[in-house]
Amino acid sequence: MKHKILVTSALPYANGLFHLGHMVEFIQTDLFVRYLRLKGKDVIYCCADDTHGTPIELKARELNITPEKLIEQFYHEHLKDLKQFNISYDNYYSTNSHENKAFSEYVFTKAKEKGHIYQKEVEQLYCNTCRRFLPDRFIKGTCPKCKAEDQYGDVCESCSTSYRTTDIINPYCSICKSKEAKLELKKSLHYFFKLQDFKNKLNKYLVTSNFQQQVVNFLINWLDNLEDWCISRDGPYFGFKIPGETDKYFYVWLDAPIGYIASTANYCQNNKLDVYDYWKQETTEIIHFIGKDIIYFHFLFWPALLMCADFSLPKQIRVHGFLTINGEKMSKSRGTFITARKYLEHLHPEFLRFYVASNLTSAVEDINLDMQDFKDKINNELIANIGNFCYRTISFVNNNFDGELSTIGASYNELNYKAEIEKKIELIDKHYEKGDSREVIKEILAISTLGNKYVQDCQPWQLIKGDKQEKEKTQQVMTFAIVILKNLSILMQPILPEAAAQLQHQINLESLSWNHLDFSIHAKKINKGEPLFKKLEDEPAALIPKKLPFEIRVVQIKEVQQHPNADRLYHLKVDIGTEQSAAQQQEHQQIQLRELVAGLKEHYTPEQLINKKVLMLCNLEPADIRGIKSNGMILVTAKGKKIKLIEVADHKLGELVYTDHKENSFAQLSYNDFKKIKFVTKNKHILYEDKPLKTDSGIINHDFEDNGIVQ
Ligand code: 2FM
Ligand code: ZN
Repeated sequence: MKHKILVTSALPYANGLFHLGHMVEFIQTDLFVRYLRLKGKDVIYCCADDTHGTPIELKARELNITPEKLIEQFYHEHLKDLKQFNISYDNYYSTNSHENKAFSEYVFTKAKEKGHIYQKEVEQLYCNTCRRFLPDRFIKGTCPKCKAEDQYGDVCESCSTSYRTTDIINPYCSICKSKEAKLELKKSLHYFFKLQDFKNKLNKYLVTSNFQQQVVNFLINWLDNLEDWCISRDGPYFGFKIPGETDKYFYVWLDAPIGYIASTANYCQNNKLDVYDYWKQETTEIIHFIGKDIIYFHFLFWPALLMCADFSLPKQIRVHGFLTINGEKMSKSRGTFITARKYLEHLHPEFLRFYVASNLTSAVEDINLDMQDFKDKINNELIANIGNFCYRTISFVNNNFDGELSTIGASYNELNYKAEIEKKIELIDKHYEKGDSREVIKEILAISTLGNKYVQDCQPWQLIKGDKQEKEKTQQVMTFAIVILKNLSILMQPILPEAAAQLQHQINLESLSWNHLDFSIHAKKINKGEPLFKKLEDEPAALIPKKLPFEIRVVQIKEVQQHPNADRLYHLKVDIGTEQSAAQQQEHQQIQLRELVAGLKEHYTPEQLINKKVLMLCNLEPADIRGIKSNGMILVTAKGKKIKLIEVADHKLGELVYTDHKENSFAQLSYNDFKKIKFVTKNKHILYEDKPLKTDSGIINHDFEDNGIVQ
C-alpha cells in the first residue's frame, strides 16, 4: 500500500484579503502537491483560515459585527482568490470549528497531565476604559529616548530605539486612544507551557530530520534559550475558552497549528477516512510549507505540542523567504501592498504562478517581484519560447496535414533528442521533489529550446515542398515535435495547470500523468491550435507604481547672482561635494560647481544664502530656465505662504539623505515625479514614509511647524 502524504500551507489570518505574499506560499505548496498527484501519490492538501486572536476581535468591533461574521466574510473572499489562482487544496477549513476546539482541548489536557503546563501570575498594562489587558502592540506613548510621540510600546520608529513597554512615557491604549484614562499595571494568572522540557527531544528531532540546513542552524542556537511560553489570554478575546476557566482563552498560536489536524479531521470525516492515519501513523508524511517569520512556532512549539499528545511529527517543514516588491518589503504607503484581487485586475494568474516558480529554490531566499523582470520572463521565456513552440508546431500540423499525425522517426537525430530530453525529465523530477522549481523551469525551457531546435534543424517548411517521401518525413518530424509538446504539457502541469490542460486539449489528449512521459503518441489527429498566452505590454507596470528614489544631498551654496532674465530668480552655484574626481582632489584642483536657478529671492538675500549648507535634489531632470541651464533644486519646507530653507550645518558636504537604506543609483526625476514623493514635517523632523530623513551624520533636525511639505 502507498504511504499517505499530508501537505499544508500556513493558515492565513481571517482579517484581511490575501496579498501576493500569501499567494507565493499557496503557489509553492500547490505546485508541489500537483507534482505528487501527477506521480500518483496518495496525497491530500489541507489548509484553513486562522480565525482567532486580538486583531480579529478588534477588527470586528471596529466594523460593528461579530467576529464570527467577520471571519465568515473573509473565508469567502479567500476561497475566491484560491480558486482564481487554481490552488488545488483538498480541504480549506477554519480554526473556529468544533474539531479544532476538541483537538485543542485534547492537546492542552495531555500537556497538563504530563506536567508541562503550570500557572503563574503576570503583571501587565490594563486599560480601564476598555476594561482589558493590552498586548504590547496596542500600547503607545512617548519614546523615552528621543521623546517622539505616538510610538509603539516596544520600539520607536523615529529613532529606532527599542525598550521595555513599561519604560514608555505616558503610555496610552491605542484601542480607545484615551490619554486621560491612565493605564495601570494589573496582575493576572496565566498558563505557561514548559518548552524547556522538550529541549533534548527537539534537538534530536532537528538534527535527525531532513530540514533546510540554514533553518536548523538558527534553531540549534535558540535551543539554549528556550523560554516558557504563555498560552493563555484574558477576555475579551476571540478564541476557545480554556477548560475549567470562565474568562481565559487559548492564545491563538496554540490552536492555530492544531488547525492543521482539525482540517485533516474534517476532510477525513467527509471522505470516510481516518484522521489518525495521518496524525498517528509513522509511515505518513506530514509536510508543512511556511514563511521564515514563523519558524519558531513550527519547529519548536508545534512539535513539542505534538509530542505531548503523541501525534506524529512533521517529516518536512519547508521554509520560504518573503516576497519583496522592487527589492523592498511590501508597503501600503509606497503602493506596493498588492492584494491578489488587485493583481487579477491586471494580470493572468498563471503568469504569477510561472514567475513565482521560476524564482523559488529550496533555500530560504526572498523572492523579489520586479515588474520589468516579470514582463521579460513572461514574454521571453513563457511566451516566446514555450508558447511559440507549441503554436508553431500545432499550426503546422493543422495547416499541412489537416491535423493528422503519423509515427515518429527513429533516426540518429531523433534518438539524440530523445536521450537529451529523457535526461532533463529525470532532472526535473528531482528538482520538483526538492522544491527547486527555479531549476524545474530552467529544464522545461531547455526542453522547449531543444524542440524548437529540432524543428529548425529539420526544416519542415522546406521538406514539405519535396516528393511524397519527403512529405511523409515532414509529417514524422512534426509528430516528433508534438510528442515533445506532450511531454512539456505534463512537465509544466504542476506550475501551469490551465495552460497545460489547454495544450493537451489542442493535441487531443487529456489527464496525462507522469507515466505518460515517453516518446509515443496515441492521438491520431490533433485539434486546432491557439496561442496559450497573450504577450504583455504595459500591464505589469500598471500594477506597481514605479519606484522614485531621490538623490538629495547636503550641498553648500558658493555663489549667488541675480538671474539676468528674471527678477525673482537667483542663479546659484553650489558645491555638491561628490562631483570631484579623485585626480582632481589630489591635485587640489578647483572643484566643479553645479549651476541652478532658484526662486528664493522673495525670501532670502544673497548674504543669507552664501556659504550655507542646505539640502538639494540632485537627480532632477536638467531644465533650461530663461536661458540658464538649471541642474537641481534647493529644497525648502513650506506651509501656506511660509517657506524655510533646510539648513544642515552639522552634516557633511555631499552626504546623501535617506531613511532606511541608501540607494546607490538614481534615475532622473521629472518635476512631476518629485511632486509624487511625499515628505511631511513633524516633531521638527522631515518624514518620508513615516521615517525621519537623515544622513550618516544623524537625523536631520529642522524647526518648522508640523504638516509642512518639501518643495
Ligand atoms: O503568521 C500567520 O499568518 C499565522 N496565521 C500562521 C499560522 S500557521 C499555523 F500555525 F496555523
Ligand atoms: Zn483602551
